Parts: sequence; structure tokens; C-alpha cells
Amino acid sequence: MNTITQTSELQKLIDGLNIDLSHEYAAMIQYIYNASAVSGLSRQVLKPYFEAEARDEMAHAQYLCEKIVNLGGTPQVHPASVKQLKQVRDMIQHSLNEEIATIERYKARMKEADEVGDIALKVKLEDMIADETKHKEELEHLLRETPF
Ligand SMILES: [Fe+2]
Ligand SMILES: [Fe+2]
Repeated sequence: MNTITQTSELQKLIDGLNIDLSHEYAAMIQYIYNASAVSGLSRQVLKPYFEAEARDEMAHAQYLCEKIVNLGGTPQVHPASVKQLKQVRDMIQHSLNEEIATIERYKARMKEADEVGDIALKVKLEDMIADETKHKEELEHLLRETPF
């Protein structure tokens, strides 16, 4: 692989990580919003649940931010779009869709990390896929079992 190819592949990876970062910021904001806006009987359970999710997403955002700097890039500071939903079921469905999309993005990013030989990033992305899969499965479970 020549230097120009390596540089363009690294730039592609940094650009992709910045997209991921904007979605991690958005996920963190979305879960903080959900925690405050959730109402009804499920509030007592879902408020702490959404708050814990927000903390996981913040840790992901912090990691990506540091990594982008370490790769020589400039981290994104703008979140992807967030929705001000009112109904609990809509909050859960929207977050579920976002978790699924995030897992797909990280699978693609793992390949890009592999192409530039960054095994540490590849492994960390795999860890993050495990976290997001846990989020996804919890949300699916909530949608199945909650009568709202
Ligand atoms: Fe995340
Ligand atoms: Fe997540």
C-alpha cells in the first residue's frame, strides 16, 4: 500500500469516526432527554434506565473524541439529530432504531480500522458493538413487555 492510499484510508476512517461521534453525542442527549420526559407508571423504572444509557453513550463519545485526536483529526462538536418525543413507546422505538444503525456503522468502521492496521481501535469498536447490542436487546425487551 502506498503512502497516498494510506493517507486517504486514514482520512476516511477519521471522517467515519466523526460521524459515529455525532451519533454518540445525539444518543447521550436523547437518553438524557428521555430520562427527564418519560412519564406515567413506567417513569420510576425508565428514568434511571435512560440515565444509565446516557452514561454509556458519553463514555463512547469520550473514547471516539480522544481517538480522533490521536489519529491526527479534529473531533466533531455537533450532535446528529435528536427527537423531543412525548410517548414512552416512541422514545423506545426511536432509540432502538438508532442502536441498530449504530451497530451497523461500527461494523463498517471495524473493517476500516483493520485496513489501516489499527487493531486496538478494531477491538474497542467490537466492545462498543457489544454495549450497543446490549442496549438494543434491552429496548426490544421493553417494547415486547410494556403495555403502552
Ligand atoms: Fe454508544
Ligand atoms: Fe447505545
